[in-house]
Amino acid sequence: MGKIYMIGAMKGGVGKSVSVFNLAYSLQNRGKRVLAVDFDPQANLTTCFGAEDVDVAVGDLMMAVIEDEELPEREEYIWERNGVDFIPSSIQLSAVEAKLRLEMGTEKMLATILEPLKGDYDYILIDTSPSLGALNINAMVAADEVIVTVNPQLLAMMGLQDFLKSVKKIKSRLNEKLNVAGILLTMCDARTILCKTITEQVAETFQGQIRIFESKIPNTVKVGESVYYSEPLIEYAPDSNACRAYNKLAGEVIAYEG
Ligand SMILES: Nc1ncnc2c1ncn2[C@@H]1O[C@H](COP(=O)(O)OP(=O)(O)OP(=O)(O)O)[C@@H](O)[C@H]1O
Ligand SMILES: [Mg+2]
Repeated sequence: MGKIYMIGAMKGGVGKSVSVFNLAYSLQNRGKRVLAVDFDPQANLTTCFGAEDVDVAVGDLMMAVIEDEELPEREEYIWERNGVDFIPSSIQLSAVEAKLRLEMGTEKMLATILEPLKGDYDYILIDTSPSLGALNINAMVAADEVIVTVNPQLLAMMGLQDFLKSVKKIKSRLNEKLNVAGILLTMCDARTILCKTITEQVAETFQGQIRIFESKIPNTVKVGESVYYSEPLIEYAPDSNACRAYNKLAGEVIAYEG
């Protein structure tokens, strides 16, 4: 039975989508069956996968569940690219967010979509938008684990506590199996004092409470280039430090499962 991971943060531009994309391929490279779910109306992850002309996006599935309608056939909404499956998103998902707020009891809509798929995958990774809105509540209710991405350059600690507080609330109110798997530091320039200072600050604050992944993702132009070419680092720059970091992260995630 697969585990569902939500990759989240209150902040934008902290490497959530890039991390979902590369972690998916690094896990797949270790023989794991992976489904990546784009749950952000910006559809950046969908772009990473190079998907165009999307007919059925995650927003359509959400609408169907909200309206108590049947879901389309899996082949219509699960795409595949070089061994990794994904469900694309589109801007229409922002209309779903409004709908979720208007209707009652809509926290479990994404869980309803993903639960039947759990048997087919080892890992389902959900990419989310930088907010604490109705979409992300759905993601937290669907997830078993949360990975929080933190970019040391972007006032990392701001919003982190708020984000973790809402994970706690969802855990006690709606999804008791929810856990924080760890904090992932992204876009780290290990040579800079700022990165070191913030890493230490995060480590001190959460010591004994939340794990910080040993693997830290370095800041490198290879990431932007690989996204431009819609290729994961494992294909575009397999020898880069960033690729090694995502491979190591995949190892940590697998080891965490025991
Ligand atoms: N390790 C890295 N080194 C250099 N650039 C990176 C790295 N990781 C991500 N980026 C770049 O930073 C930008 C933001 O990354 P990404 O889209 O993954 O963030 P995000 O948290 O998903 O943003 P949003 O909150 O808008 O969804 C992108 O242009 C991406 O190419
Ligand atoms: Mg993103």
